[in-house]
Amino acid sequence: MRKKMMMSGAFLSAVTTIVFGAGLVLAAASLLVPEKEMVIEGKKPARFDHAKHTALGVECGVCHHDKDHNPLTAENVGASGNEEQLRCMSCHNKNFANAELQKAKDVFHACCKTCHKEGYNGKNGPAKCKDCHLKTKKTAVEGC
Ligand code: HEC
Ligand code: HEC
Ligand code: HEC
Ligand code: HEC
Repeated sequence: MRKKMMMSGAFLSAVTTIVFGAGLVLAAASLLVPEKEMVIEGKKPARFDHAKHTALGVECGVCHHDKDHNPLTAENVGASGNEEQLRCMSCHNKNFANAELQKAKDVFHACCKTCHKEGYNGKNGPAKCKDCHLKTKKTAVEGC
């Protein structure tokens, strides 16, 4: 009798592990806002820190949008589970309908530099090249 109870206990914990394990897999499939500063790759890599921007109250959809230019919420981003779809240049490339939004410089500067210049809630962002751009890819890897 006692042995039987212990066995069912082991069985239960195995079930719990499987269910919990599946939960972890699901969590890994949804995308969360990156916590650390990231490097936007291209010919002139640039630094970008999500946390510093969301702390200002800037919503995801100010920068992230779908193929019809509808702003994406944190839930939309999370549910997509695919960061490749968020890559700005996956849409804004030489095949993009609007010729003024095909080049990295035009696309990112329109997003980043415009707000830094105009300001957000009374705060301006830095405007000098080196405030955003890293000197080389090497410094990007070593961090700062
Ligand atoms: C507010 C941030 C910011 C500032 C300030 C800024 N840039 Fe950029 N720029 C970016 C980002 C982000 C990209 C996209 C990264 C990339 O394409 O390498 C970019 C891309 C570029 C590109 C295109 C690289 C490519 O991949 O084709 C050039 C050239 C460039 N910037 C030059 C400059 C120069 C010169 C200055 C100063 C006059 C400057 N940027 C200031 C954020 C900035
Ligand atoms: C000020 C602009 C801006 C805001 C606001 C912003 N993001 Fe981003 N995010 C970016 C840029 C730029 C990239 C890099 C895209 C690329 O590589 O082409 C990025 C990349 C990402 C990635 C992919 C990370 C990776 O490792 O490649 C995720 C996930 C993400 N953002 C989620 C969010 C969520 C969730 C929010 C809102 C809570 C948010 N972002 C708000 C500009 C922004
Ligand atoms: C799924 C495709 C897609 C992705 C990914 C995408 N865009 Fe766009 N973007 C569009 C479309 C469509 C428009 C509207 C174009 C027009 O009005 O001519 C647009 C417009 C823009 C504009 C001009 C209007 C405005 O909002 O100021 C900028 C700047 C821009 N995108 C930057 C970005 C940045 C930065 C990223 C990455 C964080 C990004 N886009 C990712 C499709 C995309
Ligand atoms: C909606 C407005 C807005 C947009 C869009 C925006 N920024 Fe900013 N950013 C700011 C403001 C405001 C500050 C100053 C924050 C402060 O002083 O606390 C800032 C600060 C910064 C800084 C300096 C702080 C740090 O992280 O070292 C960098 C670098 C930067 N932004 C890069 C970018 C890049 C790259 C993009 C485009 C992908 C971008 N920003 C888009 C508003 C914006």
